[in-house]
Amino acid sequence: MNENQSNRRSFLKAGLTLSAATLVAPTMAIAEVAAEEEGFKIAVGPYIQTNFGDSMTILWLTNKNAAGWVEYGQQADQLNQKAYGKAELGLMQANSRLNAVTLKNLKPGLKYYYKIVSKEIKDFQPYKLTYGEMVNSSVEEFVNADVNKEEVSFLMLNDTHDRPESIPHLLGLVPEKKQDFIFFNGDIFDYQTDEKQIIDHMLQPCVNHFAKNTPFIYVRGNHETRGKFAREFPQYYMHVGHTAFTLGPVRFVILDTGEDKEDAHPVYAGIVNFDDYRAQQAEWLKSEINSKEFKKAPFRIVMMHIPPRFSGDAHGPKHCTELFEPLLNQGKVDLVLSGHTHKYMVHQPDKNLNHYPLIIGGGPKTGTRTITKIKADKNKVVVSMLDDSGKEVGAYTAFRK
Ligand SMILES: [Fe+2]
Repeated sequence: MNENQSNRRSFLKAGLTLSAATLVAPTMAIAEVAAEEEGFKIAVGPYIQTNFGDSMTILWLTNKNAAGWVEYGQQADQLNQKAYGKAELGLMQANSRLNAVTLKNLKPGLKYYYKIVSKEIKDFQPYKLTYGEMVNSSVEEFVNADVNKEEVSFLMLNDTHDRPESIPHLLGLVPEKKQDFIFFNGDIFDYQTDEKQIIDHMLQPCVNHFAKNTPFIYVRGNHETRGKFAREFPQYYMHVGHTAFTLGPVRFVILDTGEDKEDAHPVYAGIVNFDDYRAQQAEWLKSEINSKEFKKAPFRIVMMHIPPRFSGDAHGPKHCTELFEPLLNQGKVDLVLSGHTHKYMVHQPDKNLNHYPLIIGGGPKTGTRTITKIKADKNKVVVSMLDDSGKEVGAYTAFRK
């Protein structure tokens, strides 16, 4: 510790004593002293995310600024490859607490072993950088899925709304079986406040339960767009917006449905533009449904937080119906999975409205929470929705058209 740090620490400690005596809330001072005195460590992770294919992104957070990397290989005792975070303009990812390292050129169906390593940056002078302690995780493993596999199975969670205990509870209802991924279909939070909320209410329960070994995919709900930390929130994930990928017999298309109220609503204070964002996604969806990958897949599953229909007449839901439903019908999608309404429901296909089955997961309160199991092979997609007692409350089988 240099002289400045030492003086600062004495000052902060003095501030604490004084504050306690004068009843001035010393929130910042306590947090800063705690951070200074805490040893260097991994704050949360590793957690893995992918769009499938030949790469896997490994993310973690340290409690202080650091430089980090991933050591990996095909045998647990031979982690003979090393990968770093993405370099921007020649500068490697460093001097940050956030880490995202993508392992590339992975082979289909193979198991990989890995560990994360971080080295604290104690002092960053222009011409002299001083490293501190080095920490690493235990050796973890994952299977890089073969995109040509015969079957795909995954679980959907939605609308847990800042109830971290729902994540292990609901996942615990599905007997141990390796899933290809876990899908979070939005509103995992009420609104974004800070990093601690992201760690405590999602990342840590995921890491404890599955995320070191099984990837998750996440799309925002309307609640994730709210709060003072909403603009920082996406950097904790590989992506939280729209995307598409193929795994086994399924083309997956994920849409970010944005907010539920009109952009001009006073609660958004003039700083959102979801109408444009949804319109851009409709353009993107148009090109997606005309793509070779979409057309040739035996099944097409669309996942979006606000359902394309049946979620009331607020502006966002109506805009989703107007923009997305004609394209979903035109693309002949086989299944749409949503959340948002907090009432689980299976909507049958209707030749005048939604031509596809629409399955909406429930939440967030006890008795209304659901976990949805989806399994697809070349002939059928089987959906089974369980409530939080493990009872099946919705089911659907879609056969190949
Ligand atoms: Fe919602």
